[in-house]
Amino acid sequence: MSIIDANSAGFVHGGIVMKMCDEAAGIAAVKHSRRRVVTAAIDRMTFLDPVHVGQLLTCKATVNAVWRTSMEVGVRVEAENPLTGEIRHTSTAYLTMVVLDEHGEPTAAPPLLAESPDEQRRMHEAELRRSNRLAEREQIRAARGARGSD
Ligand SMILES: CC(C)(COP(=O)(O)OP(=O)(O)OC[C@H]1O[C@@H](n2cnc3c(N)ncnc32)[C@H](O)[C@@H]1OP(=O)(O)O)[C@@H](O)C(=O)NCCC(=O)NCCS
Repeated sequence: MSIIDANSAGFVHGGIVMKMCDEAAGIAAVKHSRRRVVTAAIDRMTFLDPVHVGQLLTCKATVNAVWRTSMEVGVRVEAENPLTGEIRHTSTAYLTMVVLDEHGEPTAAPPLLAESPDEQRRMHEAELRRSNRLAEREQIRAARGARGSD
């Protein structure tokens, strides 16, 4: 990471890390579907530790679960001090990517086979996050309905 990635505090700007996560997630989703994709949502993004200028940032993206046209991609961000080799886990992000057809409309995503215990755990946790998101959306709709707004 270079000086142009820094914020006014001298660390790497969180938005730069988000952009890299979005790009890594997009590449993973394209490689899974072999189609164009768009980001529908960044569902969660943690910043566990600051990233410093001069560190090497690695984003590892994995397709965790696939639904009809959308999929969850998890991204793990690690910062390495190239002088010492020390590696720290600095962020985790979960993004929903939607597969598009040639007209730019959502289209079916290829199914995902979860084979290893880690892949099965990621798929299960992605299902939990999706059902929590949908439940939250319903709760907010119901609350707005009860208040007579929207
Ligand atoms: C994402 C997008 C294609 C969804 O279009 P849509 O008309 O809502 O399509 P659908 O209702 O058929 O939904 C398609 C899928 O997107 C998912 N989706 C839509 N909005 C979502 C949201 N806010 N969060 C998570 N998933 C979402 C739906 O759950 C559905 O998934 P499923 O088929 O696996 O069940 C559309 O909203 C879009 O083009 N958004 C802009 C994307 C973009 O520009 N991204 C870059 C950001 S700068």
